[in-house]
Amino acid sequence: MKRVAFLTSGGDCQALNATMRGVAKTLYNSSEDVEIIGILEGYKGLMYEKYTKMKPSDFSGILTEGGTILGSSRQPFKKMRQPDENGMDKVLAMKNTYNKLKLDCLVILGGNGTQKTANLLSEEGLNVVGLPKTIDNDIWGTDMTFGFQSAVDIATDCIDCIHTTAYSHGRVFIVEVMGHKVGWLTLHAGIAGGADIILIPEIPYDIDSVIGAIEKRTEAGKRFSILAVAEGAISKEDAALSKKEYKEKLKNNPYPSISYKIGAEIQERTGQEIRITVPGHTQRGGSPCAYDRVISSRLGAAAAKLILKEKYGYMVGFRADEIVPVPLSEVAGKLKMVDPNSSIIKEVKSLGICFGD
Ligand code: F6P
Repeated sequence: MKRVAFLTSGGDCQALNATMRGVAKTLYNSSEDVEIIGILEGYKGLMYEKYTKMKPSDFSGILTEGGTILGSSRQPFKKMRQPDENGMDKVLAMKNTYNKLKLDCLVILGGNGTQKTANLLSEEGLNVVGLPKTIDNDIWGTDMTFGFQSAVDIATDCIDCIHTTAYSHGRVFIVEVMGHKVGWLTLHAGIAGGADIILIPEIPYDIDSVIGAIEKRTEAGKRFSILAVAEGAISKEDAALSKKEYKEKLKNNPYPSISYKIGAEIQERTGQEIRITVPGHTQRGGSPCAYDRVISSRLGAAAAKLILKEKYGYMVGFRADEIVPVPLSEVAGKLKMVDPNSSIIKEVKSLGICFGD
């Protein structure tokens, strides 16, 4: 008999349900007796004993469903060791729930912060298996996270739609893509959508270079320009500041986001008409794309196999089309960023796309 709990934590994304379905189906199909418990609203549910017993039918019909049937919440890793507002020890509370439910394993689906807490719980002696979720694709130890490709498709669709209107009106359009710390989503959607300029956090931009690229297009008779800008894009000047100095500077920042700042600078210097589009959380919504359904089913099946073999303390990663268990201790605290000197950046630059550097 195996008692396994599922938990989805952090920002949601497509294919969370598809992944849980993959784990559940594989467990139910095994020769073991299995009981699955759904922990509600991420780590919050584990702290405050919010859970529900699941049945096989709960995992039917959810392959294509976005969001998470268990709900999610953000519980920052840095606050895990701090007591809650009533003085409760959160880590102890999570361990107590785990023990009270007599769990054999906790399956944790989440991004970077979530995997850090998963590692903490593993170090505290709980049996944990992690699964890599995020539209940002920034989890160390896996080539791909589920949710990423679906978000790329949505952001690309957005840039595609902008193309026709940008062309008709002869305007400069900025599409702001999610990703505060890393630029994978902006990079892929920017390439797929045919953006002329791509700005990501890993490559700080020089506004002169951005404006130069727009003017070059104008001189060549192009009626419009499209910029794919990550939420976390940063100028060279700001990147040179310390974290503290940058935070201080942002206090007097009149713009709702970086795209508006870049837009205002372009308008002032070129006189061109600017429009800004922020697809925002639509990038995390809706049905997972076919690719995500495939990898999440595979990752889910592999997670179940680890549980059946009682191999705990791993996140199931995906490398060169193979499923690879990666120790949570190796994953925790690292970020997979875009390398400015990588082959993909060099190839894209050779197409003439400007990164503002
Ligand atoms: O980590 C996923 C992500 O969608 C980021 O790309 C984005 O910056 C952030 O979450 C938004 O967080 P929230 O949903 O809490 O506003």
